[in-house]
Amino acid sequence: MVHQVQEALGQPLFIYLNSMVILGKEPVIIDTGTPANRKQWLEDVFSLVEPKDVRWIFISHDDVDHTGNLDEALSACPNAQLVCNWAMVERHSNCFDFPHHRCRWVMDGESFDVGDRTLHALRPPVFDAPTTRGLFDPTPRVFWAVDTFATPLPDPHAAIADLDQEFWANGLALFALGAVSPWLSMVDEKKYNTFVDRTQSLDIATIASCHSPVIEGHYIDQAFTRIRELPSLDAIVLPDQSVLDQIIAATSQLPV
Ligand SMILES: [Fe+2]
Ligand SMILES: [Fe+2]
Repeated sequence: MVHQVQEALGQPLFIYLNSMVILGKEPVIIDTGTPANRKQWLEDVFSLVEPKDVRWIFISHDDVDHTGNLDEALSACPNAQLVCNWAMVERHSNCFDFPHHRCRWVMDGESFDVGDRTLHALRPPVFDAPTTRGLFDPTPRVFWAVDTFATPLPDPHAAIADLDQEFWANGLALFALGAVSPWLSMVDEKKYNTFVDRTQSLDIATIASCHSPVIEGHYIDQAFTRIRELPSLDAIVLPDQSVLDQIIAATSQLPV
């Protein structure tokens, strides 16, 4: 796991911005971090794997916290293919020049072989871009869940076991309904639950994702239970202009 922590605005809360590397026969970089963390991200990734050994760069979707160092990663890794898809090229070509000859288009439900294992691309239950595919590595049974399970954290080193259960439930709801997938309030719950079944039936041992600590053991079922509840929850009240005014008042300094 490659790790970054961002402070929440106006709250003593923290948000993880993770990406991942699979160190198999053909190493895979999964998402490419953020521009704000560029130097550290490149150092962290290439302390795990030599750039020339990277064979695949998998982009889950075209949000900047997942594609922030895509250009740098592709330049540094001349032997890597970029795993993306058609919609990503359509949406992201305004700010990234896709090297088409290096691209491999992998859609939701498709798989690709990385030498010693086959990775399965699967759209996770909660997502904020139509291009999104998670990635299941069946060898260690790790699922990269992208933006699903996103939660704020009370301290910058928190693990799931450190969280108060109510805090975690509220955090999952706040981020899912307020920042990632507000459309969940409109979904047919039966269809949605069938969709969640597809991910939960993968027999996952570890959920790794961009904006959460790793989820393992009995916390996996708890996390899916929370995700299934999302369509039935009340709308989330988000901070508005009055909150921004308070933040500005609290942080502004009088001119000298
Ligand atoms: Fe996203
Ligand atoms: Fe994200």
